[in-house]
Amino acid sequence: MNFKTIASIVGARPQFIKASPVSRALASDFKEVFIHTGQHYDYGMSEIFFSEMEMRAPDFNLGIGGGSHGEQTGKMLIELEKVFDQVKPDCVLVYGDTNSTLAGALAAAKAGIPLAHVEAGLRSYNRAMPEEVNRVLTDHISTLLFCPTDAAVANLAKEGIIGGVHRVGDVMCDALLYNLVSARAKSKILEQLNLKEGEYSLATIHRAANTDDAKRMLSIVKALGMLPTQVVFPVHPRTRKMIQELNISISSNILMIEPVGYFDMLALQESTNCILTDSGGIQKEAYLIGVRCITLREETEWVETVSAGWNKLVGVDTNKIVDTYNSWHPHGDRAPLYGDGHSAAQISKIISSNL
Ligand code: UD1
Ligand code: UDP
Repeated sequence: MNFKTIASIVGARPQFIKASPVSRALASDFKEVFIHTGQHYDYGMSEIFFSEMEMRAPDFNLGIGGGSHGEQTGKMLIELEKVFDQVKPDCVLVYGDTNSTLAGALAAAKAGIPLAHVEAGLRSYNRAMPEEVNRVLTDHISTLLFCPTDAAVANLAKEGIIGGVHRVGDVMCDALLYNLVSARAKSKILEQLNLKEGEYSLATIHRAANTDDAKRMLSIVKALGMLPTQVVFPVHPRTRKMIQELNISISSNILMIEPVGYFDMLALQESTNCILTDSGGIQKEAYLIGVRCITLREETEWVETVSAGWNKLVGVDTNKIVDTYNSWHPHGDRAPLYGDGHSAAQISKIISSNL
């Protein structure tokens, strides 16, 4: 049988997690060429995910990490064009909203190759976010748009994008359901850090609007220091750099650790009493796991977690964060907003019938 070739482009931490179930689903019907742009390159930001989830090593690693947005995206575009020329894919698959996503999308569009976007239609309606620009542009040149939610489908319709749109659920839900059992069995992070279930909070910060604004960073870190529990804080490299540059002092209840692998992160999320984050993916995982999430931003793309009552958009005001932590304890059912763990299979089927 002559398999069609899909070029899958990944580069940043959440994209390895998103690609894992999709790769598995594509395996029976396609030849997948895996292209890593190199946007994330530390072992703990990249390779650990491939080894934990037993993913095939990338066929190409472009080694393009660091640099300004324009430089990074431009270099990726140049190198991706060369790879596409060599591989001649029948379809290019991109994930989410990073610079790797946009570079992959532009390279595909300019080479006239059908483009499929996983996690299409998400909007924060804040164009100051680099991710918002990446999403909007990618969606407008995509052939197939795989939306995780109804809200995402509606956002695309508002921009006149209707053809090629498929609501398939969220591949991060697939990844979580598939990996949770292994995470429980394999992660030793609670023992290693001497943590007890329900007795610690979990924080992550990496959004540029927070890390690159000294006032906002200080306000968040101050709030974490005022929480009545230990706060486990796996620190993104960009955030560590800013904490060092700004010489921010860290309260003794905050346990700063290196970024952790996916299994440890799932284990930490399952046993915490509260997540405080500006991450997109972690807002969803908190909902899926059933942990309250205090979002350290003014807006979110994952609006359904807020209306379901499990996510609060608190921003960065110190007192507001601490008051919310102390007074807000959601409970009740959580509807399956992100599908049933079979989104990747639907994506594979839809690509198959459209190529
Ligand atoms: C990127 C994405 C963001 C996503 C995040 C996931 C863009 C515009 N942003 O942000 O949407 O939420 O990834 O984590 O694409 N660094 C290292 N080692 C690494 C990776 C990064 O030291 O392995 C440092 C470098 O100094 C780099 C900085 O972190 O310049 C920022 O990395 P970059 O990939 O540009 O952006 P992120 O903040 O990671
Ligand atoms: N994650 C992880 N280790 C960490 C922090 C995050 O494995 O130290 C996982 C997290 O569980 C989620 C994904 O990375 O699956 C989210 O990525 P990130 O927050 O970097 O980016 P975003 O989702 O905001 O784009």
